[in-house]
Amino acid sequence: MASFNRRMLFLVIFTASVFCFWANPSVAELPRLKQPAKAGDSLSFLVVGDWGRKGEYNQSLVAKQMGIVGKKLNLDFVISTGDNFYEDGLKGVDDPAFYESFVDIYTAPSLQKQWYIVLGNHDYRGDVEAQLSPILKGKDSRWICFRSFILNSGTVDFFFVDTTPFVDEYFTNPGNSTYDWKGILPRQAYLSQLLKDVDSALKQSKAKWKLVVGHHTIKSAGTHGNTVELEEQLLPILKANDVDAYINGHDHCLEQIIDSESGIQFLTSGGGSKAWRDNVKPWNKEELKLYYDGQGFMSVQITETKVDLVFYDVEGNVLHKWSITKDLNAAA
Ligand SMILES: *[C@@H]1O[C@H](CO)[C@@H](O)[C@H](O)[C@H]1NC(C)=O
Ligand SMILES: *[C@@H]1O[C@H](CO)[C@@H](O)[C@H](O)[C@H]1NC(C)=O
Repeated sequence: MASFNRRMLFLVIFTASVFCFWANPSVAELPRLKQPAKAGDSLSFLVVGDWGRKGEYNQSLVAKQMGIVGKKLNLDFVISTGDNFYEDGLKGVDDPAFYESFVDIYTAPSLQKQWYIVLGNHDYRGDVEAQLSPILKGKDSRWICFRSFILNSGTVDFFFVDTTPFVDEYFTNPGNSTYDWKGILPRQAYLSQLLKDVDSALKQSKAKWKLVVGHHTIKSAGTHGNTVELEEQLLPILKANDVDAYINGHDHCLEQIIDSESGIQFLTSGGGSKAWRDNVKPWNKEELKLYYDGQGFMSVQITETKVDLVFYDVEGNVLHKWSITKDLNAAA
């Protein structure tokens, strides 16, 4: 009986300490999600960014073409690179913009798959917790949005990174905009924990392909150009961990840059609605494989040995294609 009580006591203490470990946010790891790949480990998805304008600025036309391409590719899921709701995110979980800019726009049967979503700077100007709330998933089961998370699918690991809190200007010179920093402060602790989590998750990853997704550019010839905070803080981690590509929005264009030094692909898909900024900056022609100023989206098909990228305009025309291959026996 005494030994039984001691065992019970041990169990209680053990359970309590496990609970404390999980309940303490400073040691919480990034959420990990899993999405099975199709037979043969092939995977296909679309990437769209900077879209939520209640169908305006050709958002609806882009959505229609996404539906057509999505059917051809037998999509597994869709990735949103953020700026999901203009101008100022969602006002709350009951904001009708959720229907007007998402549910009632991306209606094609092929797009009724999971959407893996990050937040953009415009989303941070509204109620961030609303976009993260499971209530939205209740309204439309496609909606999967976290600040930062990891998705494993077949031979690919995706690392979704919350990039808005990295940008100094939103803190030091916010203009007329108000940002919702609940859950972010103190900022330096948030950022260093996030960088540590991304680095260790990348190090643990045994996936053949490692793709990182964020809202802000790291390298771009567009209006916003490079995001220096990410070049300084996130890029070294991507380089150290052999990341294949960084996928983003923020610049309202379609763009492919292959960094000549690291070989990392910088893929911008931010053409979900308002575009045509007409101010592309000069860039090394060897690196800049595509710059398209207008609306559109990107498709990605991945097998163990090959990635096929295709960029489409607002009418579904193919603007540009690119393939990346990897030796089956090469280290991941
Ligand atoms: C929408 O796309 C059409 C081409 O299909 C183009 O003529 C028009 O200018 C675009 N509108 C906007 C607001 O970009
Ligand atoms: C802030 O709003 C005022 C009044 O609407 C406007 O005149 C000003 O240009 C705005 N400033 C910025 C930085 O957007």
